[in-house]
Amino acid sequence: MRATHPPLLSANRYPLTATIKIMPDDAIPPLSGYSEPELDRAFAAVAAEVEFSAQSLRTPGDKEDFRLQWLGRKQGRLKLISDAWLKSAPPDAKKLIGQRFNTLKARIEQRLDAAASTIPADALDAQAIDITLPGARRPLGAEHPLIRTWNEIVAIFARMGYSVGVGPEVETDYYNFESLNFPPGHPARDTQDTLVVAGQERKPLRDRLLLRTHTSPVQIRTMEQQPPPLRIVIPGKVHRNDAADATHYPIFHQVEGLCVDTNITFADLKGTLDFAMKALFGSSVKTRFFPSFFPFTEPSADVQISCPFCGQAGCRKCKFSGWIELLGCGMVDPAVFEFARLRQPAYDPKKISGFAFGMGIDRVAMMKYGIGDIGLLYSGDLRFLEQFA
Ligand code: PHE
Repeated sequence: MRATHPPLLSANRYPLTATIKIMPDDAIPPLSGYSEPELDRAFAAVAAEVEFSAQSLRTPGDKEDFRLQWLGRKQGRLKLISDAWLKSAPPDAKKLIGQRFNTLKARIEQRLDAAASTIPADALDAQAIDITLPGARRPLGAEHPLIRTWNEIVAIFARMGYSVGVGPEVETDYYNFESLNFPPGHPARDTQDTLVVAGQERKPLRDRLLLRTHTSPVQIRTMEQQPPPLRIVIPGKVHRNDAADATHYPIFHQVEGLCVDTNITFADLKGTLDFAMKALFGSSVKTRFFPSFFPFTEPSADVQISCPFCGQAGCRKCKFSGWIELLGCGMVDPAVFEFARLRQPAYDPKKISGFAFGMGIDRVAMMKYGIGDIGLLYSGDLRFLEQFA
């Protein structure tokens, strides 16, 4: 009796002939001849190769690789074998090769079928998906406190008939300073620590680019585009060369306002800002105006509101003074209308007048939401932002 051997390790169960080992993946060895034994030998070698690679099918991914390796339309072994052996065969050998070719193909398909029944469909390659788990919840976004304040201020002025204007953040010296009545070398320029774009020394000063230090340049830009009457608010980002601390940051935001018509007076300015502050901080808030200076308004004023947090009893937010300074404003200086008039003759300071104001959005947001450090508005820190969701 023949001794029964334990089964060999599966990888060795089939004869790996020298032919297979030296055959590179992409090369099909030429047939040694067209006799039936020669064809049988050649096909047996390929069949052994099929069996060898069918051994390691574990996952649906392996199965797909195997299918492509053998049945792939362009680079599959079967296609290459057909190209190498069948096409060039003499007519009477074609039938013999064709039969063996079909047997080989059936064997490959059988291996694929067998794999399909043994590999469970969810034996997925590494990232198995458990479809019974609840889905990942996508957190809803929330309005940033700065944008919320921005929208709130704009909405108050929209109700008073103001429309919204925009202008570039990279601005020329002309719009940021000169046309707002800051002549070259004027000391008021030094109060706005300006970030300038480098390498423009050869341009005339008025054309040199800088990051706008306030939203006021959009006053002139708007007047150049539209004749009076005009009522516009301009929210936007501005930049100054400030070192960051709890109340300063090189980026911040302002809302500019501009109203131009016949017979606009300082009383209109006071009434408008008083109404806006009440709408923003509550109807019991009072406003008061102090003389100030801006080159583009005359007269100019700083506006304070009564502290909405302590009812003027004194608290940290108003530094125990009962008042908080919030705005700069004034009547548009005739010199500014003269610049606007270069493009729009209707801005004749003898016929029209107007007021302008500007306030920091960050300041207002920090006050309203009790934010102690302006940097938090720009940190992108979710622990901070989630408090506003
Ligand atoms: N642009 C001024 C600033 O940034 C604020 C301002 C605007 C003052 C409009 C008066 C009128 O300081």
